[in-house]
Amino acid sequence: MARGRFISLEGGEGAGKSTQLKRLASALRARGLDVVETREPGGSPGAEAIRTLLLEGEVDRWTPETEALLFAAARADHVARVIRPALDSGRWVLADRFIDSSLAYQGGAGGVGMADIMTLHGIGSHGLLPDRTLLLDLPQGDAASREAARDGDNRDRFGRKDGAYHQALAAAFRALAEADPARFRTVDATGAPEAVTSRLLAALDDLG
Ligand code: TMP
Repeated sequence: MARGRFISLEGGEGAGKSTQLKRLASALRARGLDVVETREPGGSPGAEAIRTLLLEGEVDRWTPETEALLFAAARADHVARVIRPALDSGRWVLADRFIDSSLAYQGGAGGVGMADIMTLHGIGSHGLLPDRTLLLDLPQGDAASREAARDGDNRDRFGRKDGAYHQALAAAFRALAEADPARFRTVDATGAPEAVTSRLLAALDDLG
């Protein structure tokens, strides 16, 4: 049986990842593919329990290092219990965030460093990387207003960090995409949802 394809969606807050993940999954199913939709942190019962620890509480509840370890632990469970088995049985996996979020948030913006994040990923998830990572690109102001409209005061610990943090984050994602052009596609997330989905599908054309 052919191994399935692993696709991650990445980007800052408010870029429309969750909506686009659902739209992309339906479009791929319409082409006859068996698609699993999942998210991080979370995606398996153990990882969802860790998600609650990570997203609730005060902004400074965890140091960036502790956060990096918790995200890596959640990812290890998610990969072992959900992602690898799905890929091995020929299914396509669409993940709302994966390792690049740890690289950008904890590694870049949080200051832990990319090399240490990859070491944790090697231990936890045997270094599994997506076949394609779609980076949803939205101007900072648009993202902030979409997020405020959606979440108001209910933003999670990361959504409540300041503007400088979010700028560092956007720069870290851009640098990741530039460093690995074979895996990444940066997709314009402005405009109608249908238009964004078409761009995302086009960015998967070469995956077969
Ligand atoms: P989301 O459901 O809005 O994507 O929330 C997840 C939050 O966790 C988001 O603010 C990004 C953050 N995050 C990290 O900091 N590192 C990671 O590895 C992942 C997967 C998410």
